[in-house]
Amino acid sequence: MTAHIGAPARLPESGADLADPLFWKRPLREREAAFAYLRTLDSPVFFTERPGSARRGFHALVRHADVVAAGRDPRTFLSGPGVTTPEPARWVRTVFGDSMVNLDDPRHAQLRRVVSRAFTPRLIARVEDDIRTTARRIVDEVVARRPVDFVAAVAAQLPYQVICTMMGIPQGPRARILELVDHASVHTGVRRSLRHRLRVPGRGLRALARMQLLVAEIGRERRRRPADDLISALVTADVAGRGLNSRELGSFFSLLLVAGVETTRNAMAHGLKLLTDNPGQRALLLSDLGGGIDGAVEEMLRHSSPIIQFRRTLAHDHEMNGATFRKGEKVVLFFNSANRDESVFPDPGAFDITRSPNPHVGFGGGGPHFCLGAHLARQELRTIFTELLTRLPDVRSVGEPELVPSSFDNRIRSLRFTFGNVR
Ligand code: HEM
Repeated sequence: MTAHIGAPARLPESGADLADPLFWKRPLREREAAFAYLRTLDSPVFFTERPGSARRGFHALVRHADVVAAGRDPRTFLSGPGVTTPEPARWVRTVFGDSMVNLDDPRHAQLRRVVSRAFTPRLIARVEDDIRTTARRIVDEVVARRPVDFVAAVAAQLPYQVICTMMGIPQGPRARILELVDHASVHTGVRRSLRHRLRVPGRGLRALARMQLLVAEIGRERRRRPADDLISALVTADVAGRGLNSRELGSFFSLLLVAGVETTRNAMAHGLKLLTDNPGQRALLLSDLGGGIDGAVEEMLRHSSPIIQFRRTLAHDHEMNGATFRKGEKVVLFFNSANRDESVFPDPGAFDITRSPNPHVGFGGGGPHFCLGAHLARQELRTIFTELLTRLPDVRSVGEPELVPSSFDNRIRSLRFTFGNVR
C-alpha cells in the first residue's frame, strides 16, 4: 500500500486506526496484531486525526529501521513543534516554557550539554550509592509492612527518590511534589472530551504550575548558596551566557520527573509481571542473578516499551520507503512496534533474557534526543530486581495489572504482589 495524504484513516485489514483514542483502549493483543499488520506494508501509513481534514494527522513509523532513521536525522525530523500527542496548546508552552525534549539545535544542544556536564562522575557515583541504599530501604519496608500493591510500594518509590536526591530536593516537599506530578501527568496521551479540555487551566496544569513554583523557590535558594546537586549546577551553569531562569528550571525539572519517574516505574511493574508470567526465564535468572540481570533488564525494556511513541515534524519534503512526507507534516515514531519488529527480533513476542543482540529502542532509536536517563534507569532496574530476587526470591505479581489506557506510555496503575518467605 502506498501511503499518501488522506489515505484511509481506518485500515479494513486490521481495523487499526492509530489516531482514534478508542484504539488505545483495545486489548494489548489486538493492538499488537494491528502493528504487526502495519509492519508488513511497504510504506508508512498516514492516519487522519480529524475526519475531513487531510493535513491533520501523522505518518506512522512502525518498523525498527524507520524509527531509528528518523531519530537519527534531526535536521529532517524536528522536535521543535512538540513531541507529544495530543499537542499541548501554544499558550501552555508560552506559560510553562519549553523543555529540551521539544527543542532543536542550537538550543537543545546547549541545554543538553549543561545537563550532561552536570552528570559528573561524582554525582553519578553518589547516585549509584543512593540507588542501592534506597532500594534496600524499600525492600526493608516491604518486609516490615507486607503491602499489596507493587507499584505504590516499590516501583513508584525508587525512581522518584533518586531523582529528588540528584536534583537536591529536600525531604520536606517530596511527598507534595509527587502528588503534583501524578496530577500533572495523568492525562498525557489520553485525548479528553472537549468539556474536559476546556476546563482551563485544568487540574494537571495547575499541579504543574504549583510544582514549578516549589522548584523555582529551591532554585533561588541555590543561586544564593550553591550545593553539590543538579539544581545548583543548572542555575549557575553557563547556557549561552547565563544559568537557567526559574521557568527553564521548572520545565526541566518537570521533564525529569515526568520522563524519569513514570517510565522507570512502569518498566519495573512490567518487569515483575514478565518474570512471573515466564517461570522458565525467572528460574534462569535466579540461577545466575549477577550474570543474567543485564540481559533481563534489556529484555524488560524491549518487551514492555514503557514509552509508546514520540512525534516529529518534517523540516522539508522527505522520502521514506516509497512514501513522500511533506514539509510541516507529522510523523510518529512507534517504539512499541519497532521493539516487536520480526526482522530484528526473532520471535518478538517471547520474553527471552538471553536475547543477544538486543538493539531495542526503549530509550529511543539513537540521535540527539536519546534518553538522557538511560544509564540511570538501567541502574535502578538492575538494583531493585537484584535486591528483590536476593532477599525475596519468591516475589511474584498476582493477577492482572490495572492498566491506564494511553497512546503515549504503557502505564500500570497498580499490580498486586506476594513474596512468601524472606531470606
Ligand atoms: C525505563 C525508563 C525510561 C524510558 C523507557 C525512557 C524512554 C525515553 C525515550 C523513548 C526518550 C525519547 C528518545 C528519542 O526521542 O530519541 C527519552 C528521552 C528523555 N528521557 Fe528517558 N526514559 C526512561 C528513563 C529516564 C530517566 C530516569 C530520566 C531522568 C533522569 C529520563 C530523562 C529523559 C530526558 C531528559 C529525555 C529527553 C532528552 C532530549 O530530548 O535530549 N528518562 N526517554
